[in-house]
Amino acid sequence: MKISVIGCGYLGAVHAASMAELGHEVVGVDTDLAKIESLAAGRAPFFEPNLPELLERTLASGRLSFTADFAEAADAQVHFLCVGTPQKRGEYAADLRYVDGAFASLLEVVTPGAVIAGKSTVPVGTAERLAARLADVQPDAMLVWNPEFLREGFAVQDTLHPDRLVYGVPDGEAGERATALLDEVYATILAEDTPRLVMDPATAQLVKVAANSFLATKISFINAMAELCERTDADVTALADAIGLDDRIGRKFLNAGLGFGGGCLPKDIRAFMARAGELGADQTLSFLAEVDAINTRRRVRMVDLAREECGGSLMGRSITVLGASFKPDSDDIRDSPALNVAEQLRLQGATVRVTDPAALGNAKSSYPNLLYVDDTAEALTGADLVLLLTEWREYRELDPVRVGQLVAKLQVLDGRNALDPAQWRAAGWTYRALGRP
Ligand code: UDX
Repeated sequence: MKISVIGCGYLGAVHAASMAELGHEVVGVDTDLAKIESLAAGRAPFFEPNLPELLERTLASGRLSFTADFAEAADAQVHFLCVGTPQKRGEYAADLRYVDGAFASLLEVVTPGAVIAGKSTVPVGTAERLAARLADVQPDAMLVWNPEFLREGFAVQDTLHPDRLVYGVPDGEAGERATALLDEVYATILAEDTPRLVMDPATAQLVKVAANSFLATKISFINAMAELCERTDADVTALADAIGLDDRIGRKFLNAGLGFGGGCLPKDIRAFMARAGELGADQTLSFLAEVDAINTRRRVRMVDLAREECGGSLMGRSITVLGASFKPDSDDIRDSPALNVAEQLRLQGATVRVTDPAALGNAKSSYPNLLYVDDTAEALTGADLVLLLTEWREYRELDPVRVGQLVAKLQVLDGRNALDPAQWRAAGWTYRALGRP
């Protein structure tokens, strides 16, 4: 099938390559020429495990191409809308300018019978608004919502082997036709017995924000428990293990620490609150404001701990921060808790050296006043205090004895509960973490 993917960022680039992997003829469209050139040359414009290999394979097959020209998408039977929906500056609401802009360009080329499948995370009601615009221009085309649940770092795996497929389609024959078309797109995935849920478009839009809100709430719940653990000398990791064994609760997303960041969870819960307000349901989601506040407090607590460890003042202290991306296996620094903490430390007078396996390039442009060091050993040399803020595997596996020979003081703060306290203490370190005695 001929497919177009509109928007080639974290979501679209992976979706385009994955659809080509499933055997479809795919054109990825983006207005950013540098991104198009990079993708067309087989270079992923961001760090994502397995994406370079997938791009190389699907480009070589001849089934995948990239362009800035919407006209090249005209003959696609299905157009996937994958543009970003960032937070508006100074507001909670989502900025829909990319969705609206891409949609306007698509309206110029969409042909009768085509299906536009929205994948971007949008405020509920967006699909209905876009469908009305489509009906004016091309009544024989159809708009459906097909949310995407991929996690950065696992994007290829999540796209090719998702937990579920969700189709938000109109009632009646039109919906049946769209369902059949999407079934054809995802035939290989459906053959693996992947659950496929067909529902109305409003519910499909809500599924995505509801899922992300639940995940954010789960993280903030355990971080609230961490705050209590800190006041009672209890251990939040043991608590999480114990409650997580109740399979109604589950252990996943109960890792206490610096909390959530990235391009999705923080802005999605805020946009959801803003949308609820527009719908006259302000109170319904007010708990998400608390979820957000708990999350932000963890960053402040981390800085407070660092100041305590430095004897009450950060002035002139040499601090090494391990990790800059918002989570491991990603170079994404959007709303990165690690960089937020690093910058607060710097503003309080510390000399902060940051290292990260993938995200330093991105970090430099957003936080130009931090010091960046590529090599981990070099970054650690002479440090008064070490902070583990993003739990890349290479940091989890650091040998405390070897690291101890590099630093000036054996003090470590584990912002992700990723190190083994017994092992670090045995090597002579003062080990402190969020939510642990
Ligand atoms: C998220 C959703 O998981 C995904 O389904 C959706 O499609 C997009 O948003 P992503 O932003 O890639 O994906 O990252 P995720 O793995 O969810 O992690 C988000 C943040 O939560 C990270 O900063 C991570 O460090 C933090 N986190 C996660 C915790 O602090 N504790 C946990 O237990 C899990």
